[in-house]
Amino acid sequence: MSTTVITGANRGIGLELARQCIQRGDKVFAGCRKPDEAPHLEALQPHSILPIDVGDEASVLSFTEAIEEPVSLLINNAGTSITNLGFSRDEVGVMNAPVGLTLDLIRINGLSAATVTRSLSERLESGSKVANITSQIGSMVVGSKFNDLPYAASKAVMNMVTVQLAAQLEASGIAVVAFHPGWVRTDMGGSSADISVEESAQGILSTLETLQPEQSGAFLRWDGSIHPW
Ligand SMILES: NC(=O)c1ccc[n+]([C@@H]2O[C@H](COP(=O)([O-])OP(=O)(O)OC[C@H]3O[C@@H](n4cnc5c(N)ncnc54)[C@H](OP(=O)(O)O)[C@@H]3O)[C@@H](O)[C@H]2O)c1
Repeated sequence: MSTTVITGANRGIGLELARQCIQRGDKVFAGCRKPDEAPHLEALQPHSILPIDVGDEASVLSFTEAIEEPVSLLINNAGTSITNLGFSRDEVGVMNAPVGLTLDLIRINGLSAATVTRSLSERLESGSKVANITSQIGSMVVGSKFNDLPYAASKAVMNMVTVQLAAQLEASGIAVVAFHPGWVRTDMGGSSADISVEESAQGILSTLETLQPEQSGAFLRWDGSIHPW
């Protein structure tokens, strides 16, 4: 049985990833900020629902310490947006984004992929996979077209974390990739987004199933195609 760890599993893409992993028979450790307030996740009956705030290193450590077995797949999915952290939409540009809130978003969306992965590294074995759910906006090519510094910078950091983890974990046989999940209909993506959570999660999981070691360090779209950096 595969053991899968997913952060931000109580709603959105993370919830659907958990649903599809449980459906295919994985033993799922599902992380969320408030396990007592996660009815949709609870209804899926994952192996375990554990508390984690990915922006808080002590919380990350408690989460990973509670997982006492080898992990085949880690999905660093938890992420947040400018509005959730109290930014107004007219103060997110490179000319006016507040530094403190920008750093908060970088810690939560970007650096958390490093803290969660390294805290869990003793549970990752040769053949394990790590998927970081980034965004196309973290790409230098796409991000330059948006005037949204905090979110774009946070996902650019996650992309850098991905390639550095891939290099550091290569000798251990662990593959690390970044996924743009598509523009997905969730609380974050909004109701007019392009694709459903089902399509995004299904694409990510089937791409991971066939992922080869030499693909480690890649930036992929949910459908498995290569995304430009
Ligand atoms: N939807 C899109 O179009 C889209 C596009 C590109 C990338 N993404 C990325 O895909 C991932 C999932 O997004 P989504 O659309 O499913 O968003 P969502 O519906 O807003 O869900 C975000 C999830 O992340 C969790 N989360 C936020 N901050 C957290 C923290 N500090 N610690 C732990 N969990 C935290 C949320 O938990 P709470 O319920 O506790 O807030 C929730 O479970 C994110 O990384 C996002 O940046 C989404």
